[in-house]
Amino acid sequence: MYKLVGTISGEVGLHEFDFNVTGEVRRNEYVKVWNEADGWILGRVVSIVEAEKKTATAEIVGYKDERGFLMQPKNTFSRDVKVFKADQTFIMDTLGLKSGGINLGMLEGRDIPVHLRKEELIQKHCSILAKTGSGKSYTAGVLIEELLEKNVPLLIIDPHGEYITLKYENRSEEERKQMAKFGIAPKGYASKVVVYTPANFSINPAADKLFRIDGINLSVNELYDLFPLSDAQLGVLYQSINEIKAEKEFYTIEDIIKKVSESKSSAKWRIVHFLERIRETGILSDSPTRIEELVKVGEASIIDMKGADPKLQQLIVYRICKEVFEGRKMGKIPPFMLVIEEAHNFCPERGFEKAVSSNILRTIASEGRKFGLGLLVISQRPARVDKNVISQCNTQIILRVTNPNDIKALSRGLEFMSSEMEEEIKRIPQGVALLSSPSIEMPILVDVRVRRSEHGGRAVEVEGVAKKEPKKEELAVREKEGGKSMFAKLLFE
Ligand SMILES: Nc1ncnc2c1ncn2[C@@H]1O[C@H](COP(=O)(O)OP(=O)(O)O)[C@@H](O)[C@H]1O
Ligand SMILES: [Mg+2]
Repeated sequence: MYKLVGTISGEVGLHEFDFNVTGEVRRNEYVKVWNEADGWILGRVVSIVEAEKKTATAEIVGYKDERGFLMQPKNTFSRDVKVFKADQTFIMDTLGLKSGGINLGMLEGRDIPVHLRKEELIQKHCSILAKTGSGKSYTAGVLIEELLEKNVPLLIIDPHGEYITLKYENRSEEERKQMAKFGIAPKGYASKVVVYTPANFSINPAADKLFRIDGINLSVNELYDLFPLSDAQLGVLYQSINEIKAEKEFYTIEDIIKKVSESKSSAKWRIVHFLERIRETGILSDSPTRIEELVKVGEASIIDMKGADPKLQQLIVYRICKEVFEGRKMGKIPPFMLVIEEAHNFCPERGFEKAVSSNILRTIASEGRKFGLGLLVISQRPARVDKNVISQCNTQIILRVTNPNDIKALSRGLEFMSSEMEEEIKRIPQGVALLSSPSIEMPILVDVRVRRSEHGGRAVEVEGVAKKEPKKEELAVREKEGGKSMFAKLLFE
């Protein structure tokens, strides 16, 4: 029943102990030691040295007292006390792992499931940080699948069009073989996923719907959000819009352009230029996308911004965030999870770039939880994401990070980071994550489960996945919008 792995020897401290290894142990393995005063104590192997004899150092995790608090032993262990491999129940109890909930994967090296609480993710935000290729989007996909299973509405800001493959089941033979181990089966979410394009169907044939912003009766403030204006330019815009308002109840950007062009001020040209650029994107419409459509129980809406100009992407994120935050406050839409890929582009740290979407994302990070608006932020440059946003994320998933500045930023921003962990995250393999969550007593390494659905970030696109037969009504819109829109030109120049 108890698997002996060694005997305590050498250094014995209050936080760590050394032991002679006689059985099988790996780094990061959990062990347990009996202590007269407190009972079983959980430890974690932090290093193994193979010299004449094999010795290991274990860090003391502690034990749960009657109240369920994690406690540290009061006395040091005596020499010659036996060290055993820790069993599943003891590890789960001591670390606070519960079964049921969001299935993230398994404790690294063990068949112990790691589940997160759905409420915790939504109410307390989550971040996924790591270098490129370490499995961020993959892990985000795992969380999205789990939230979809629980019918939590999702709104996904997808700069690269990677999440559209959530519709299809995982085709990787190798990954399918691992599914049983994680207790899952292949599954596509075609009936729950809706892909929006801010461009049009000829640029993005895989999209289901167009994403449009309300272009009717744009106010000076709304326009000022879209592009910077000098005082003189602002003056011209104010006057022009006031004049239009006196003339008609409803006006379009066309009307504004016309009115501004008639101005006698030379400040008008820059405004006209900006207004024309916005008009040409085709993003403004008299039938805008409604937030009630974007945020629906049991659905994931993907805003696929593949190929869109970065400034336009920020603008779209700004508009969406502002509207859903207001909408959530007023109870127009249900509680939901907002997923922001490449977060450094939308809420950059001060001193790096600027983005119109920064302030609203900061507001959502600090106030969203009150209104049931959860954030999942993903970035490969932790140092470049607004630290106010990162610090509001209570669940942190960190995969491999090697850039020294990023490691420094993580250490500064996350209280649990120790120098030992800094070393750890430099070498963790692809698909393994360091997880810190409010309900788990200490950060743990998780072997993130395989995806049920196809992962879109693969180097080689799966044949047929991105292509699909267009529906009739889409073709009609394509006809109408396809040739005319300047979106492509603006975006690809
Ligand atoms: N948990 C995992 N299980 C299996 N393969 C994974 C896992 N996480 C990542 N991978 C592999 O790593 C590749 C890169 O992951 P991806 O999420 O696209 O990286 P990035 O961090 O750049 O978003 C994926 O295409 C996938 O093959
Ligand atoms: Mg990615």
